[in-house]
Amino acid sequence: VTRQLSTSVGRQGPVKYLTVIGSGLMGSGIAQVAAATGHNVTLVDQTDDILNKSMGNMKKSLERVAKKKYADNPKDGEEFISGVMGRISTNTDSSKAVEKADLVIEAIVENLGVKKQLFSALDKAAPQHTIFTSNTSSIPITDIAASTQRRDRFGGLHYFNPVPMMKLLEVVRTSETNDETFNTLMEFGKAMGKVTVPCKDTAGFIVNRLLVPYMLEAVRLVERGDAAPRDIDVAMKLGAGYPMGPFELSDYVGLDTMKFILDGWHERDPDHPLFKPSALLNKLVGEGKLGMKTGEGFYKHKK
Ligand code: NAI
Repeated sequence: VTRQLSTSVGRQGPVKYLTVIGSGLMGSGIAQVAAATGHNVTLVDQTDDILNKSMGNMKKSLERVAKKKYADNPKDGEEFISGVMGRISTNTDSSKAVEKADLVIEAIVENLGVKKQLFSALDKAAPQHTIFTSNTSSIPITDIAASTQRRDRFGGLHYFNPVPMMKLLEVVRTSETNDETFNTLMEFGKAMGKVTVPCKDTAGFIVNRLLVPYMLEAVRLVERGDAAPRDIDVAMKLGAGYPMGPFELSDYVGLDTMKFILDGWHERDPDHPLFKPSALLNKLVGEGKLGMKTGEGFYKHKK
């Protein structure tokens, strides 16, 4: 009854005030693009040091954008940058940071317990109309939403790295997400300049559900001695027209991330053949060969 009541008094117009929690790789990208498209953003992280660093990174990224976009008029470029940065404020207190929010996007560490703890606190601090979302790649949205009393106003917004470059946004609705919330999320995604695709709350949504098993199948080809990584990459680029081969992509994504996603799916669905662990992937991760970020994965990289 409370849920129905809270929905009927809801005020889910277009999103003006956005709070992004977690200012790492994804959160800072989301904050930057949202501010660049005219939204007021509050960015939250654990310390001011982390937040200052993120603000610096966003500024650098905007400078690259401005250099291209305002090549003939550097003054307009500077105005663009200061305008965008001026729409982003920072806070280390997540409960305070959601007091005015129309929408919250969570992009903190990929851990269900930590996410639930955060949302349960936010649920008490945020207004009734505030929509909650997670950018999780591998945890069911339904499980995170269970920590709140607003499961009807809870969905997933799954962005792609790097957020300023990647056009796609997967908008995830659970069996409890109401229509108004879902529509607001689709509209918000478009207002951010993204192409939105709706999907249900299933393992990997659309992109990762297809991509991660594909990358793992490539690893299994190598494990069986059927072909070498370099040749598989050449084959998929020239034969399937993919911009990167599966091993180049694995090194870019991070082997630890791939393993983490796969292990999570395997735990939830142990009989699924595509979700079975890979000895080679586990070995490389065990050796700290995580891909580009550590200088070596399937390939050696210049740091
Ligand atoms: P990251 O490690 O770069 O950033 C996480 C940030 O959250 C850190 O700055 C950390 O200090 C902060 N944080 C952790 N706990 C917090 C808390 N309780 N309150 C406030 N801040 C907190 O991680 P990344 O890569 O940005 O991932 C974040 C989320 O986005 C994860 O759920 C991940 O699954 C998802 N994701 C990641 C993608 C990627 O390519 N890295 C792609 C799509 C989704």
